[in-house]
Amino acid sequence: MSVLFVDRAEEGAWLRQFARGISGGAGLRCAVLEGPSGMGKSALLAEFSRSRAELPVEIFTVRCNPVIGAGRTFGPVVDLLLELEARAPRRWRRKPIAAAVAKSTTGLLAEFVPVLKPLVAIGTDAVKTTLSSGAIPFDSLLPFEQAAAVKIAEAIAERIAKRPTVLVVDDAHFCDELSLQVLERLLRNRAVPVGLVLARVPHHKDGSALEQLLPTWEVDGLVGRRNLGGLPAEAVAELVDHEFREAPPGYAAQIGQRTQGHPIFLVKLLEDRSTVLPESLEAWLEAQPEMQSEDRRLLKRAAAQGFWFDSVTVAELAGVDGGQTRDALDALARSSPLIERSAPPEWAFRERADHYRFQHQALWHAVYATQSDAERREHHERLAQAAIRRLGSDATYEQRLEIARHLRAAEDYCRAESSDFHLALARDAAAVNLSLGDAEWLSWEAYDAASKLRKSAPGRDERIVKAVLLHLSLSEVRWKGRVEATGERDTDRLAAQAETAAERLGDPALLVRATMLRGKTLMATEGLEHGLERLHLAVTRAEALDDPLTLYVAKIEYGRQASKRNLAEGEAQLAEAERMRVEDARIRDSDDPVLVHSRNLGEIQYGISLFDSGRLGDASDRLERAVRRLRLQSNRTELPIALNYLAQLRICLGDLAGAVQLLHEARDLEADRGGDSGWHAYNTALLASALAALGEPAERVAELLEEAWAETERTWLLNLVPIVRNLYAQEALTAGRLDAAERFARGTVEETRKSGMVRSEIAAHLLLARIALARNETEQAVKCALDSLRLLNEKGPQPALRSEEVYYHAAVILSAGEQHEEAATLLERARAELARKAASIEGADLRRRFEAAPGLNTWIRDGEGVAS
Ligand SMILES: Nc1ncnc2c1ncn2[C@@H]1O[C@H](COP(=O)(O)OP(=O)(O)O)[C@@H](O)[C@H]1O
Ligand SMILES: [Mg+2]
Repeated sequence: MSVLFVDRAEEGAWLRQFARGISGGAGLRCAVLEGPSGMGKSALLAEFSRSRAELPVEIFTVRCNPVIGAGRTFGPVVDLLLELEARAPRRWRRKPIAAAVAKSTTGLLAEFVPVLKPLVAIGTDAVKTTLSSGAIPFDSLLPFEQAAAVKIAEAIAERIAKRPTVLVVDDAHFCDELSLQVLERLLRNRAVPVGLVLARVPHHKDGSALEQLLPTWEVDGLVGRRNLGGLPAEAVAELVDHEFREAPPGYAAQIGQRTQGHPIFLVKLLEDRSTVLPESLEAWLEAQPEMQSEDRRLLKRAAAQGFWFDSVTVAELAGVDGGQTRDALDALARSSPLIERSAPPEWAFRERADHYRFQHQALWHAVYATQSDAERREHHERLAQAAIRRLGSDATYEQRLEIARHLRAAEDYCRAESSDFHLALARDAAAVNLSLGDAEWLSWEAYDAASKLRKSAPGRDERIVKAVLLHLSLSEVRWKGRVEATGERDTDRLAAQAETAAERLGDPALLVRATMLRGKTLMATEGLEHGLERLHLAVTRAEALDDPLTLYVAKIEYGRQASKRNLAEGEAQLAEAERMRVEDARIRDSDDPVLVHSRNLGEIQYGISLFDSGRLGDASDRLERAVRRLRLQSNRTELPIALNYLAQLRICLGDLAGAVQLLHEARDLEADRGGDSGWHAYNTALLASALAALGEPAERVAELLEEAWAETERTWLLNLVPIVRNLYAQEALTAGRLDAAERFARGTVEETRKSGMVRSEIAAHLLLARIALARNETEQAVKCALDSLRLLNEKGPQPALRSEEVYYHAAVILSAGEQHEEAATLLERARAELARKAASIEGADLRRRFEAAPGLNTWIRDGEGVAS
């Protein structure tokens, strides 16, 4: 290999300039080198590192793994922490890490970042719950992964806080999504004197995570890029002069033209000192003597194993005597320009073997490509099977990723095994590594392999159902309603496939779960009516099942959603579930996390449905009790939701300050966990509205609302989006920002027409009416108010919508439109609603407080704005 480094003066100066700018705080935070494999990115990075002495920064380099690559979640970050640790002053160093811990990336991380430990424990519980029930959305779990990223970034920031530092990530197209999140947090935190240098191959099939992220960094002026092309003629001449002094005249020009200055090709030709110049790197490879002898097969097998390979595995693959293979590889490593001795990554280490690697990834790919299709598949099949036999249940996560890779590459030779293997790995990715993102793609592969099996293949249906159930519950939080041309997977088609597969299979418990899931996808794609019909079917199917636990879960799922169409029906289902819980010890006393989670949700859902149907006293008792109890649990997954419900109730009861307190508690709880959350967004919007009512300055309210809306857009929980939109519109209306208010209210109408979220549509029409009135467009106001009323009459009372609010504002508007008789009737209806709710409150104090609650309740009492 060449020892002389040539050219790249401009790019090298750019990198050093970048490094000097780090300590300044302003300026670029990330420098990206781009170019195809073999173009000299790593060589330039090495040159950059060598100039460390003249730079006012520390440089740490990690390289993403080209074999299991992005599958190794947090892998590059762990490597980085190890680097930091190795060079840390002694007082920073931790005790040696136990081998058991080092086995899982998560365990290793928790070792470096101790605050992760409790998080990992809580997260593991919660994920297990969700995995085994399939009934509970992951919305409350998503934050755990992001939270880990936040804490890791903080830990790294803390270690490099003092000294300006450049983190170099080579082959960043193999970087996993969560490591990228950590890096992004570091970049965006200008208080940390850090710069990032990335080298990557653009448009690489594994590089989509980075590909999507880069433009967002670019927009914010964080990143600069340099594309590496071929070396220029003078540089080629310099290299020739140095490596092949006796070259014939004109040689440098010839070789420069032939290789287009592509360094790896160039370097290989110079090593040969060959004057016959092949067309391409591939042609050069074919001309090598080892590719024309028995060694060709050996090298192909080595390439099938991977960039790193070992003598024992290659011998196994050949089915020949180990000693012979060992000797042949040893000889090749001495003479061939293709491979060399090299220690593999830890997880790929094999005892009693010699270890090698290809001299360059580009060479690995070129040799790999010489296999025929069948040969390649057979190689991967045998590699996978041998590893499974050898490692069994002792395989580490990385080893399992490696096996999974072979199974995928074996294509139709291993579909069934591949599906099973990926599903098991997906479950562990979530439950052990807490990596929902990994679990998601792994479960997709499990589905993909199963669906490509012959239709009549035994076990196909069961595999499809199980893989889809897992995949969809993992991705549920991100379903965005109807499938648009976004490239998102068609969730409902998948769920439908799982449902029919479950029907064919005749396993009633799986069928109930598939039906429940289909109900949810229909809810997202076709709207409430279709969704509810299916969820109801799931309940019916569960009733035939003689399995109270499944029935209980199905009832809660259905009941929660049914309230959105028919309050009484939803309440009845939840009441029934509540009765089952009280009466059936199997449900009540079980400490199975599935049940615990379902029970918690059921309890607070029942509480809020009592509130929605106007039984305030009962609702208040239950929700206060639930919140007290949930606060005591170690896993407080449901607490932010419970606090939200109770805050709604307190606002209605006129206890604004009490509501504000609860909402702060809920927000803090989730902020501690870190990451975005739909409920955090909702709680922020509700807080804004409560604070506004308490007279908080308009700017602060507006600020909170912007924050809430931005987080809602990022999380997009289908049933929360329109609620936050409406809260936004309402506060904008109050603040006199009518155009913004109208935009948001119209957004709700448009969306809810598709999603069928009637309650929000009613509220949005009412908001449009009030906005029109504020503009003195009385006719338009009346029209919108009537729209709202008509929907309410048609669909009946709604959850999270106070009917009296609709009646009252409609009364004000009709009164402005001179329709006095109708206005008076509506006001009476609003009063009747209030009276009914007041009567449900047992305590006299609480009742009086409710009646005198400032805002809506007193407006209604006094008939404010309604001409009498
Ligand atoms: N500027 C250079 N001067 C001399 N040799 C180079 C130069 N750039 C790359 N090479 C050589 O070319 C080969 C491929 O370069 P490498 O940096 O590994 O490419 P990449 O990282 O883009 O895949 C290596 O053998 C390297 O030493
Ligand atoms: Mg490289």
